[in-house]
Amino acid sequence: MKPGENEKAGPITDFLVKDHKRLEGLLQSAVAHAGSVDQETYDQFRAGLLRHIGMEEKILLPAGQRLRGGEPLSIAAKLRLDHGAIASLLMPPPSAAVIATIRAVLKVHNIIEEGPGGLYETCDELAASEAAQLLAKLQAAPELAVLPCSDSPAVMPAVQRALERAGYDFHKE
Ligand SMILES: [Fe+2]
Ligand SMILES: [Fe+2]
Repeated sequence: MKPGENEKAGPITDFLVKDHKRLEGLLQSAVAHAGSVDQETYDQFRAGLLRHIGMEEKILLPAGQRLRGGEPLSIAAKLRLDHGAIASLLMPPPSAAVIATIRAVLKVHNIIEEGPGGLYETCDELAASEAAQLLAKLQAAPELAVLPCSDSPAVMPAVQRALERAGYDFHKE
């Protein structure tokens, strides 16, 4: 979904949809050369995606819950499980299978956030009176330092479990 397609899109939708696009671009250029991954660009993608998830988990979901009188958004639990799966997929070295799985999960996940009635539109509606404040908080979210990728034997089983919890399969290729 493009930002212009969502009539109720507000500043929060705009800002975070643009960040999705920026992250997609980074992943795209990290794997631009078949058979190899540009690790530096991939690390920028990982850092940016973890920061993006941090904005959603630490700023947006809590704001949505507060604006609903303390009741969490109905999609909050699913989004948090997705974020767990996405963060776990950023740990192992970026094999073709890992990249394919990240892409597949993000495709589903980003639609839940960007689409009509999704996280961003809901937050734009709820926060109409304080959208500028919320946007400023999102913009001020800190950069994160990411650990190097790890090929420890514990990593892939942890990825499998996180994917299962969120209802996704690992793409073998
Ligand atoms: Fe997200
Ligand atoms: Fe997002």
